[in-house]
Amino acid sequence: MKPVKIGLLGLGTVGCGTVEVLDRNAGEIARRAGRGITVVAAAVRDLARPRGCTLEGVRLTGDPMVVVDDPEVEVVVELMGGTEPARELVLRAIAAGKHVVTANKALIALHGNEIFARAHERGVMVAFEAAVAGGIPIIKALREGLAGNRIEWVAGIINGTGNFILTEMRDHGRDFADVLAEAQRLGYAEADPTFDVEGIDAAHKLCILAAIAFGIPLQFDRVHVEGISRITREDVTYAGELGYRIKHLGIARRAEGGFELRVHPTLIPERRLIANVDGVMNAVLVKGDAVGPTLYYGAGAGAEATASAVVADLVDVVRALTADPENRVPHLAFQPDALSDQPV
Ligand code: NDP
Ligand code: HSE
Repeated sequence: MKPVKIGLLGLGTVGCGTVEVLDRNAGEIARRAGRGITVVAAAVRDLARPRGCTLEGVRLTGDPMVVVDDPEVEVVVELMGGTEPARELVLRAIAAGKHVVTANKALIALHGNEIFARAHERGVMVAFEAAVAGGIPIIKALREGLAGNRIEWVAGIINGTGNFILTEMRDHGRDFADVLAEAQRLGYAEADPTFDVEGIDAAHKLCILAAIAFGIPLQFDRVHVEGISRITREDVTYAGELGYRIKHLGIARRAEGGFELRVHPTLIPERRLIANVDGVMNAVLVKGDAVGPTLYYGAGAGAEATASAVVADLVDVVRALTADPENRVPHLAFQPDALSDQPV
């Protein structure tokens, strides 16, 4: 069978990581997907900027519409970030009957209800594993592995940059600003790093997790959000002297009459597993009524860790492309008709 041709919107940290993983593991990916996956086109903002990945056979353009409208492109992979023009491009791809993979949590959290409704109408898939907790397959775990459970709560460290900052402040006494600059150099931080340090990125992710865990609509504006920007080295040191660690948590749980979604710094006793999740690592705890508590751990940001999740979505999409459309596995696309109107 011929390989599936994909187009990338963005060739930054995650875009280049995706190209590298697709190239290096091409044989294994093709075996798992049932067909090869080839990048044929990619859009960037600055065509002159050197790229850290192999782009043989890839048509580069400065206009993302060219990739979306390219008749050869069957799957559009949105890795540019931000809500516009990402939203417009994703909706255009869906309208053209193309499947979409995205790592963009801001886009899903703020416009997911609209995007999934359009995708549902058009019968295409929108996959977004990389949008939450980097390389940890938490969307799949919630949707598939825990499908038999009533989820009681989800809680975790879901921003790698923030956890890296808190860890370096504690272990090496470094300055907040200095560690944040390093996180930016390493490609962990958002284009606007206030999203990381003010909890907005974690709130985007939490609202996606809650929508899947509880079957509620995406409601970012209902999340209580507090960041870590006011935490000092002294706070971290005092917490340690008292036997605690400061972790920035996202918590979504059932509450009386609805659900409670909150993101804030939390003091956690040192002996707890989650207190020992350090650096760019993320961890998500999920409590199901049947299985009890479960824990998912892994790199929460970075080029190849995130690419791992993007490629996993691509494999799912390619498998479904090859299957009879009538028998497509429904979990691949978010099902808007499964959402309830229960307030958050
Ligand atoms: P980068 O800033 O590294 O890359 C963004 C890419 O998109 C760049 O190649 C940029 O072009 C291109 N781009 C941006 N705007 C436009 C535009 N208007 N037209 C054409 N190209 C454009 O971001 P990341 O790779 O870090 O992040 C991408 C997405 O993945 C974001 O949604 C982010 O939240 C998400 N994500 C990131 C993770 C990470 O660890 N970095 C982890 C999980 C998710 P140019 O290079 O020319 O500037
Ligand atoms: N900026 C994000 C983080 C990227 O640090 O967690 C991964 O979503």
